[in-house]
Amino acid sequence: MSDFMEKTILTLSICMGIFVLNLSAQVAPSVPVLRINADQVTSEIGPTFSGMMTEEINHSYDGGLYAELVQNRVFKDNPTAPVHWSLVQTTAAIGSITLDNTNALNDELVSSLRLDVGQADKDNPVGIANDGYWGIPVKPETAYQASFYAKTSTGFKGPVVVAIVSTDGSTIFAQATVDLLGNDWRKYSVKLITPANLTPTTAARFELTVHSPGTVWFNLVSLFPPTWKNRPNGNRIDLMQKLADMKPGFLRFPGGNYLEGSSIANRFPWKKTLGDLAQRPGHPGCWGYRSSDGLGLLEFLEWAEDLNAEPVLAVYAGYSLPPKNELVQPGPDLAPYVADALDEIEYVIGATNSAWGARRAADGHPAPFNLTYIEIGNEDWFDGSGSYDARFAQFYDAIKAKYPRLQCISTVGNEQPEAKRVHSRKPDVLDEHYYRSAMDFETQAGSRFEHYDRSGPKIFVGEWAAYEDIVPWNAKSRKLPPTPSLKAALGDAAWITAMERNSDIIVMQCYAPMLVNVNPGGRQWRPNLIGYDALSSYGSPSYYVNAMFNANRGNVVVHSSLTGMAVENVAPLNYSVTKDTATGAIYIKVVNITGSAQSLQIDLEGVGRVDSRGTCIELKSARQEDTNSLSGPTKVVPVTGSIDGLGRNFTRTFSPYSVTVLRIQTS
Ligand code: AHR
Repeated sequence: MSDFMEKTILTLSICMGIFVLNLSAQVAPSVPVLRINADQVTSEIGPTFSGMMTEEINHSYDGGLYAELVQNRVFKDNPTAPVHWSLVQTTAAIGSITLDNTNALNDELVSSLRLDVGQADKDNPVGIANDGYWGIPVKPETAYQASFYAKTSTGFKGPVVVAIVSTDGSTIFAQATVDLLGNDWRKYSVKLITPANLTPTTAARFELTVHSPGTVWFNLVSLFPPTWKNRPNGNRIDLMQKLADMKPGFLRFPGGNYLEGSSIANRFPWKKTLGDLAQRPGHPGCWGYRSSDGLGLLEFLEWAEDLNAEPVLAVYAGYSLPPKNELVQPGPDLAPYVADALDEIEYVIGATNSAWGARRAADGHPAPFNLTYIEIGNEDWFDGSGSYDARFAQFYDAIKAKYPRLQCISTVGNEQPEAKRVHSRKPDVLDEHYYRSAMDFETQAGSRFEHYDRSGPKIFVGEWAAYEDIVPWNAKSRKLPPTPSLKAALGDAAWITAMERNSDIIVMQCYAPMLVNVNPGGRQWRPNLIGYDALSSYGSPSYYVNAMFNANRGNVVVHSSLTGMAVENVAPLNYSVTKDTATGAIYIKVVNITGSAQSLQIDLEGVGRVDSRGTCIELKSARQEDTNSLSGPTKVVPVTGSIDGLGRNFTRTFSPYSVTVLRIQTS
């Protein structure tokens, strides 16, 4: 042991997927050596290794990915006032608006906006205006789809002018006229097309005005820009493109806390998120604002499908969030919730002659989705009553009885104290969550997963993110930029290398949260991966780390060991080595967390030929504090270039504060 203590050189080696620390008395070589045995596969790394986690937080959907531009479109966001709506009138006109709870469109949309017009004419219209989600994005040569339900008082004459105008009303960006047809509720739709010669802006509002006296009621007032794949009720194109560029293998939804809700009544109401928007009342979300549920269960599934990602479906498991901690007791009380989860699974994968499979077909998607994983709840370690074991067992037994091939994920993982990790049914997978400082990730990257019991359940790191200094749930963090700096991205990159090296046990992992509306009041959490306002978006350095790593992975991890690296407290370099067995490409990922350049000798064994020319993808910046933003979206982005002089042995110097992927072609 004393010999052991005297050693001065830390050798980090990966052996058959087990990361071991060896202390050796050798004299440190001037340059540490990364030895790669490219013919020794230590684990497979599947196409669903890296994915996305999503929930309605930070206006991820409403005011985010879901392309609807009208906020409070069904007038339920506030029970006493038509928030986000205002009266439009010139001085010569007379009108008023009120929230009306006595003129329901149907049983679900019971509140409407009532416009009373006392005096108006063509030059002096009166109407309603919506301020959008921090503005309405106006882009040149763009076709917007407007729609609304309306009914009029008897005798009301005249059309509605539907328009996108500047916030002061002085500029009309696009407009169209719709004739109103009578005093029962009807749906109206019209296209608004902007001209070529305008400068993009968010300083705009959406208006519906009339120029004759009378009363008009409005409901489900909607405005959509063009969407990804032109899906009606679809997603924002720029954000979907960013997500597609991340090449996600799966989509974990609908939470997160959003699944559980702040009470049982406010859990994710999947059945009320299906079908016609006029049948979706929305529900109170758990992050301080109401959800329209326009992005509902089918839209989640289609979102995953559009990105070639597998859905990872989380089902409500009878426990809602602190501080109420509402709980459904396992046993008969929980049975309806288990039945509800089985219905939900049937909606996703059932044949079209099953009740919920038929409903999916009626909703427009006859083909079943590709589903492997069901997550039972979210973060159920918060349930201090200890009921999760019995609740998990009840769901597990019912799901396995009907769908033996489905894999059940427990939400209490190895990062929780042993006393909480009680499982009378062995979960197929454990979901573990890690929100840690960059330094913690860098320190733990070399050893966190190496000691996991390989005969235990597989691991899903279903939420993880590095922060710089302030924990995400501390309100002070909201004073910081919404997305992380390079400092956090270095921690994230180190963490991914650790998960890659341990992909024999870690089957899936995803950063969280993914999306944030950067406007004041738009967010509840930081850090987040992708920021946006109504008009544009940007990826954080952590986003680019995820994207560049996901695009360069291959299908196996190969044996590698790093020797001769001097370590004080934390290793200066983190790394992982993977390979594409079909092409022979080897991917070497190296994270230099220090402010000085670090050289590494790379010895490639177990290969035939090595191409002398390869590819280097590097993300770096002069200062760790550097980051991206809406006004500077590309300050810290990866740069791809060719490198020469590769072979079985070569030395590479890694820039200060950098994340690098070397792609080397072998045969
Ligand atoms: O990602 C934000 C929140 O963090 C999630 O809703 C919850 O699962 C976790 O505590």
